[in-house]
Amino acid sequence: MKVKRIAVLVSGGGTNLQALIDAQRRGEIVNGEIAAVIASKPGVYALERAKKSGIPGYVVARKDYPSNQAMTIALVDRLNELNIDLVVLAGFMVILTGEMVRAFPNAILNVHPALIPSFCGAGYYGLHVHEKALEYGVKVSGATVHFVSEECDGGPIVLQKAVPVEEHDTPEDLQRRIMEQAEWVILPRAVSLFCQNRLRVEGRIVRILKPLNLSKECLQ
Ligand code: GAR
Repeated sequence: MKVKRIAVLVSGGGTNLQALIDAQRRGEIVNGEIAAVIASKPGVYALERAKKSGIPGYVVARKDYPSNQAMTIALVDRLNELNIDLVVLAGFMVILTGEMVRAFPNAILNVHPALIPSFCGAGYYGLHVHEKALEYGVKVSGATVHFVSEECDGGPIVLQKAVPVEEHDTPEDLQRRIMEQAEWVILPRAVSLFCQNRLRVEGRIVRILKPLNLSKECLQ
């Protein structure tokens, strides 16, 4: 089976990118390699993390394009030039247009810091998600990894993990707990499952297939 080339798209600090890099170092991204990190703005710390790990970093800056659509088309061109098989949105804060989904059908994963279908969709990103969850008074939140479709945060769900909300949590407390206990765990796991061809999408449902018995030669 061909090793899948992964591009991680980022907009900020890149702790989810770091979780992927660490998992790769531990051999937990089976049959996949992080081939590129692409940032939506220059100077973000995620690019520093890529550099430190010897992963090529690129910038496709939103400000250099007149619209999200024009930026999406430039991104698709770059991803195709790099022969990317899987696109991972890891804290990527630009809403991509249909061109991306059509270029990579069921081959884009996004991590969202809540249990979809709660606290998701337009306007729910970063710390805002946790502010809304705390305002609502939920006792449990968590994270979701899903395939990206044309509906914002609406694609088929791959993995979810619940995390308790604690008395007197600030949005920052909840964000950190969800990252540590959920996002950094389920994102590398979902990426590894994809790279092993173990995710089968049937409508809205994602089936997780049993592992294939891959010999060492197959993994080269
Ligand atoms: C993460 O919590 C991620 O789930 C969230 O932004 C944060 C990025 O952190 N993404 C969204 O809200 C997307 N809707 P990171 O840059 O440290 O990985």
